[in-house]
Amino acid sequence: MTNVAVVGATGYAGAELTGILARHPHAKITGLFSSKGGARGPVLSTYPDLIAEPFDLDALVAGGPDVAFLATPNEVSAELVPEILEHGIKVIDLSGAYRLTQPALYPAWYGFNHEHPALLGEAVYGLTEMCNGELSKARLVANPGCYPTSILLALRPLTYILDREQPVICDSKSGVSGAGKKSDLAWSFAEVSGNFKAYGVGTHRHEPEIRQGLHLGDRATLVFVPHLLPTVRGILSTMHVAFTHAVSAQEVTQLYADAFADAPFVKVLPAGQLPEMKSVVNTPNAEIGFQLLQSGRRAVIVSVIDNLLKGAASQAVQNFNRMCGYAETEALKS
Ligand SMILES: NC(=O)c1ccc[n+]([C@@H]2O[C@H](COP(=O)([O-])OP(=O)(O)OC[C@H]3O[C@@H](n4cnc5c(N)ncnc54)[C@H](OP(=O)(O)O)[C@@H]3O)[C@@H](O)[C@H]2O)c1
Repeated sequence: MTNVAVVGATGYAGAELTGILARHPHAKITGLFSSKGGARGPVLSTYPDLIAEPFDLDALVAGGPDVAFLATPNEVSAELVPEILEHGIKVIDLSGAYRLTQPALYPAWYGFNHEHPALLGEAVYGLTEMCNGELSKARLVANPGCYPTSILLALRPLTYILDREQPVICDSKSGVSGAGKKSDLAWSFAEVSGNFKAYGVGTHRHEPEIRQGLHLGDRATLVFVPHLLPTVRGILSTMHVAFTHAVSAQEVTQLYADAFADAPFVKVLPAGQLPEMKSVVNTPNAEIGFQLLQSGRRAVIVSVIDNLLKGAASQAVQNFNRMCGYAETEALKS
């Protein structure tokens, strides 16, 4: 049994996470926290025994967790992570505060100076399927962002055949829950319902994470265009890429098969079939499909995930399971 605490338990991602941990056979919840405390939240309201307290570090430590999950805003995680690690508690952070390896990127993309650059070097980037043994030794896991999860799962297996002289274009669409429960006019029902729009082009903080994950360096062109879908949850990313040589459908299929041989939550569709969001919403799964173009010199690749699950909470539990030596699917598959 592993003792766990969740900070941010009343948020969209934290509430999903708390629900999964509550049914995890090897996790015992020793503390639930948020800024204000309370039992409200999409999952907490269906588990009447689960009530978050206003956050207090001493109370979190007193519960004796082995692992603390942070589903808090970036600036909050940036501060809390070192304080919690100091008490010998491992951390799985769902925010972006420890995802980028270069501290210099934080002021421009996140709007704050990173005060703990050594921890950026230590944090394991928890795109579970691309991790080997490092999760079992990790003290700090930076859980990937939702858009990067959808994009990197689809493109990382093809890294060595991508033509970096050509732009990598990632056209992603997300449901409104991707922005958390904050009330903001742009994310309100009246603005989103019946609408569809691009936003954050060239400024979205997931862009450097995608660049880092694809090892694109500073020079290769990455075009990342996030869009807001008039739906609650789910991400569909469409990627347009060129290859260094003409590839066959069998070659691409084999690269995916090698990458995902032991990946219970990733399904790659037969060449020419493209996935739909409704297949993965409310599941911990990702689906990927591709269509070769121009005799295999280019491809359109489509991937779908649930932003709150594979893009946040269920991936955090995959990482927790690997960290603690439990089956990767524990609490995630019935
Ligand atoms: N939404 C997604 O699809 C998604 C996907 C991947 C990663 N993430 C990341 O996960 C984190 C949470 O996202 P979210 O969408 O769940 O946000 P959210 O719905 O806005 O929830 C934020 C949570 O953090 C708590 N919180 C805020 N300030 C705090 C503080 N100073 N101390 C303790 N708790 C505090 C809030 O408590 P109160 O309720 O009491 O205010 C709430 O429980 C963010 O870093 C986000 O970038 C989100």
